[in-house]
Amino acid sequence: MITINVNGQSLSVDVPPDTPLLWVLRDTLGLTGTKFACGQALCGACTVHLNGTATRSCVLPISAVQGGKVTTIEGLSAHSDHPVQRAWLQHDVPQCGYCQSGQIMSAAALLTQNKNPSDADIDAAMSGNICRCGTYNDIRAAIHTAAGLLKKRV
Ligand code: FES
Ligand code: FES
Repeated sequence: MITINVNGQSLSVDVPPDTPLLWVLRDTLGLTGTKFACGQALCGACTVHLNGTATRSCVLPISAVQGGKVTTIEGLSAHSDHPVQRAWLQHDVPQCGYCQSGQIMSAAALLTQNKNPSDADIDAAMSGNICRCGTYNDIRAAIHTAAGLLKKRV
């Protein structure tokens, strides 16, 4: 058994230690908001937070997560009202939506480290999150809006 903390809950899972975190989230815990795409840390669809840092869950063995705190899109906010989520709605960012939970998790992690990111900061932080629908301009605008919402909240 491996004990992990996901979205504030301590859970024990009976899986081999090399099982990717993404598999545990989706198949064992039923948290399907985190998506599988490349499976090779190349696209960002599977991004979650590990101790507040954006992390690719498709290549992270569950054994490496023990003792850490994982946050998924389901746990980012109680009512889907994190400033990044509100800004995403305001800008109507998603197209097909497949990449979007990963985009939102990367954006939220960026804003915890940089409260006022420039376009260049955003492009650098988000460069590992691929969107085949090309929502990059809306993502950038939404992150600026979210930064403003966060400032009002403080
Ligand atoms: S599915 Fe993990 S980075 Fe693509
Ligand atoms: S919204 Fe379709 S892949 Fe990003």
